[in-house]
Amino acid sequence: MYSFDPVPGQAKADLYRDLLDAARALTEGEPDGVANMANVAALLAQFLPDLNWAGFYRMVGGELVLGPFVGKPACIRIPLGKGVCGAAALHGETQLVPDVHAFPGHIACDAASRSELVVPVTCDGAVIAVIDLDSPSPARFDAEDAAGIEALASILSARI
Ligand code: SME
Repeated sequence: MYSFDPVPGQAKADLYRDLLDAARALTEGEPDGVANMANVAALLAQFLPDLNWAGFYRMVGGELVLGPFVGKPACIRIPLGKGVCGAAALHGETQLVPDVHAFPGHIACDAASRSELVVPVTCDGAVIAVIDLDSPSPARFDAEDAAGIEALASILSARI
């Protein structure tokens, strides 16, 4: 049994420190990328409040394909450049979207989503996946969330 638990009411910096420690511990020495993404999706949903979707899309054959996640069933394939995930994958850059309705081409997998954070995971300079977080609250994510998830992406670079 694993018990990695967020401390109620802790500051965001402490929350991300604990989340990253848990992600490191859970994925260390495990070569199976699907298992690692599944456990990290569970950690994201457990540690980060106010989310309705948390998970991965993987780069497969030049498009994004749904990976392990927590949330409602989602669209399976996303072409590069389409939606928030496709933009993150195409440009290799984090997309911090305070209002998904204002993002041209946003793909609504869950009508409840109001804001979104997507961070690319790169390995040897290539995007291999994106981490996607959706929230039902507008402007749920800030620069501290982006930096925390970017640190997570860097841990996962050689583990997924
Ligand atoms: N909203 C995303 C699609 C994936 S779902 O949010 C899970 C996008 O625009 O790329």
